[in-house]
Amino acid sequence: MSVFFVKESFPEVAEKIILIGSMILRGDALNILRTLPSASVQCVVTSPPYWGLRDYNIEGQIGLEPTLPQFINRLVAIFNEVKRVLKDDGLLWLNIGDSYTSGNRGWRAPDKKNPARAMNVRPDTPEGLKPKDLIGVPWRLAFALQQDGWYLRSDIIWNKPNAMPESVKDRPTRAHEYIFLMSKSEKYYYNYESVMEINGGSRRNRRTVWDICTQPFPEAHFATFPSELVDPCILAGSKPGDYVLDPFFGSGTIGMVCQKRQRKYIGIELHPDYFLMAVNRLSANEKQMDLLEVAQS
Ligand SMILES: C[S@@+](CC[C@H](N)C(=O)[O-])C[C@H]1O[C@@H](n2cnc3c(N)ncnc32)[C@H](O)[C@@H]1O
Repeated sequence: MSVFFVKESFPEVAEKIILIGSMILRGDALNILRTLPSASVQCVVTSPPYWGLRDYNIEGQIGLEPTLPQFINRLVAIFNEVKRVLKDDGLLWLNIGDSYTSGNRGWRAPDKKNPARAMNVRPDTPEGLKPKDLIGVPWRLAFALQQDGWYLRSDIIWNKPNAMPESVKDRPTRAHEYIFLMSKSEKYYYNYESVMEINGGSRRNRRTVWDICTQPFPEAHFATFPSELVDPCILAGSKPGDYVLDPFFGSGTIGMVCQKRQRKYIGIELHPDYFLMAVNRLSANEKQMDLLEVAQS
């Protein structure tokens, strides 16, 4: 049984966290990362909020910066701290979505099913771009991180066979997102054999296009990771017993996969509701796994 530790409030003067097993920490990603020990985490899998897409209604949230450079710079600062926490041979799997310039619409109408999609603030069109331009946020961030010292090792296309239809008639419907594989050093731990794919009758090195359906998590008002997407990242990027970190934990999908794969996890989440959601989800899953273990023994 892997018990996890939950920390909901941090004192003004940041204390240093001692890693004693899986933990879920509530607060701002940058502040909490600063309290974690250097070179302690083998693998990071994460999906930060996208720029100008959701209002999580909480002070300090990422994604509502008025300009694109402010958004990118904030993420670069966070991932710089992630780099310190990562072991020298560690890996970062970073999922980030793109968006279009708002065409100078200043708001988005409320969506009854998903209140977080109602936006009363939408960022202005970034300098140099025009209304209707695809912003290219993922690549802009990838280049900024590369500039900050990260090795950009691969872009992975997450193809979503069940992507939401769009009402557009002047471009193809968007059905993919990017995942960037980044390392801290030239050489790093990557277990390619654990994530090989089947091709005809034989196994081969995994390719860069992954077909994975989105999986709605009804309680969350944001896009959650499908476990199937996280699983290969964790299998290739860590060994059982290693620490895996997600500084934007949301509903805690990383924790679910870590529980299944015997990794320890560190989740950081700013929003108290999502923090609680993750704590409850992971406690329930842990109980279920304990019951299974008892039943099998
Ligand atoms: C796209 S969601 C992550 C979803 C997650 N991958 C899952 O499977 O549930 C982004 C999360 O980042 C959180 N967030 C926003 N600003 C933050 C900040 N400054 N520090 C930590 N978390 C933050 C949001 O509350 C949201 O839960």
